[in-house]
Amino acid sequence: MYILGISAYYHDSAACLVRDGRIVAAAQEERFTRRKHDQDFPARAVEFCLRQAGIGAEEVDFVAFYDKPLLKFERLLETYIDYAPRGLRSFLKAMPLWLREKLWIREQVAEQADYRGKVLFTEHHESHAASAFFPSPFESAAVLTMDGVGEWATSSYGYGRGNELHLLKELHFPHSLGLLYSAFTYYTGFRVNSGEYKVMGLAPYGEPRYIRQILDELIDLREDGSLRLNMKYFNFAQGLTMTSAAFDELFGGPPRRPESRLSQREMDLARSVQEVTEEAMLRMARHVRRETGERHLCLAGGVALNCVGNSRILRERIFDEVWIQPAAGDAGGSVGAALSVWYQYLGQERSVAEVCGEHADGMRGSYLGPAYTNEEILDFLETTGAKYRLIPRDELAETVARRLADEKVVGWFQGRMEFGPRALGSRSILGDPRSPRMQSQMNLKIKFRESFRPFAPSVLRERVADFFELNVVSPYMLLVAPVREDLRRAMTQEEENLFGVEKLNVARSTIPAVTHVDYSARVQTVRREDNAAYYDLIAAFGRLTGCPVLVNTSFNVRGEPIVCTPEQAYTCFMRTEMDCLVIGDFLLEKSEQDETATAADTAWQEEFQLD
Ligand SMILES: [Fe+2]
Repeated sequence: MYILGISAYYHDSAACLVRDGRIVAAAQEERFTRRKHDQDFPARAVEFCLRQAGIGAEEVDFVAFYDKPLLKFERLLETYIDYAPRGLRSFLKAMPLWLREKLWIREQVAEQADYRGKVLFTEHHESHAASAFFPSPFESAAVLTMDGVGEWATSSYGYGRGNELHLLKELHFPHSLGLLYSAFTYYTGFRVNSGEYKVMGLAPYGEPRYIRQILDELIDLREDGSLRLNMKYFNFAQGLTMTSAAFDELFGGPPRRPESRLSQREMDLARSVQEVTEEAMLRMARHVRRETGERHLCLAGGVALNCVGNSRILRERIFDEVWIQPAAGDAGGSVGAALSVWYQYLGQERSVAEVCGEHADGMRGSYLGPAYTNEEILDFLETTGAKYRLIPRDELAETVARRLADEKVVGWFQGRMEFGPRALGSRSILGDPRSPRMQSQMNLKIKFRESFRPFAPSVLRERVADFFELNVVSPYMLLVAPVREDLRRAMTQEEENLFGVEKLNVARSTIPAVTHVDYSARVQTVRREDNAAYYDLIAAFGRLTGCPVLVNTSFNVRGEPIVCTPEQAYTCFMRTEMDCLVIGDFLLEKSEQDETATAADTAWQEEFQLD
């Protein structure tokens, strides 16, 4: 039986195909259309999922849509009436798309996916919750979802047991932890729904000097983690901005203009909202633990991408174990919707052994996107005229590891593309974390940005505790951990006084390229069962250097979605100063490519201005 899950029309559209309860394919639409966070109907992602399974749309038994458009529409109308006539402009802006597409999901599915069978709808937070629990390695667990907003809900909790999922309580719009964070994302000059990561990365540079204003004025944070926003300070319910004039007044001026210089104020604001968010997450988690009595916790929803907050929940030992859906944002809603039909609508049995198979959980390392065979790759390389060498599989890891140890930057394209926002060793750019130059080199020469955020490390699962204060699996980079104390380097007073990026460029540990200014790192642990090629590469690098850790950043440049095809990987390789590219079993060296083709495309680079 095939169930096709779809999420669309808000942010990061995606499709997911489930065969007899197992996820066989999942991908975000942006990877195919090359429009970052594409929110249109995921026609190309659907096409990929069906192709992966080798079936036509007529063989799909159910389509599951990840939210209830009518409920969402009702929220829009009611909010408009509440604030009328103030929200007229935003209302008029939203209406055409609602009336043309968003309310007509069945028609869209028929038209764009050529499917005329049964379409079922799950609620937005049900989809998040299902995506958190059903693929988790737990027989029973508490479930907590937190995001900006779905239909009405902005957060929910409950529990899952076997094939059942029960949501007990919800928090409703406009009171939302996600929207609070997004308001600060907007105010500090970043893009809402994608810049939240930057706010989190900026936080360690600041002091939490605005916590009182946030807690006294902006929100009423309760003991159970629920909150109420003081809407005097926000404009998202009725306007086209996140914050209001009162917000500007409270924090001493207008929002930072995007791309303008960051000041201490933004860093302090970031630190403050991050701490308040962590406090709310902790309170919610404690409350959920008390209410459900469960020992395990599953998380999803955009706020669960806040890996610093997740790690606080883990470190405070509120639950024995925590599992986080890798596509915690709305893309993952497609997974939840499909699994919800399988388990809840159809009442199929769920056994953890079957969910996981050889993997640590049901997401199978999140390697659920398209793969390319060596024949397909060769075809492409031949037509392009690239200079390549075929490396025998058993020599590949060693060959690439040697280049990494020589401080070469390597584009690594292997197997099935990752589902969710992170590159996890299938579409990654890799480097040597021990190199003090690596972080600025990769930022400036390859990603065309100057970033205040360090890169993330990938480390062999069994060696994680040798480098980080962490000893659980973190396959999806959704946890942070301190670099071990014995690997750290103390800062001189002079170095402490540096500002912003300068501060990050000072080596703080023996793995400086992945160590943040507060000595934390966003860790990915790698098991051979999940990604053999990547595991073997890190292991080979470890044998060579004594350090089984690599810098892992997504294979893309700023402003572009992660590469999907060999052609996109090759283009990115040629247009940046990456030294090597490995696609399947083929190795390309920049120095051997045609000079005309290697001349960096400056017009293309100019599009990507610095952070
Ligand atoms: Fe959501």
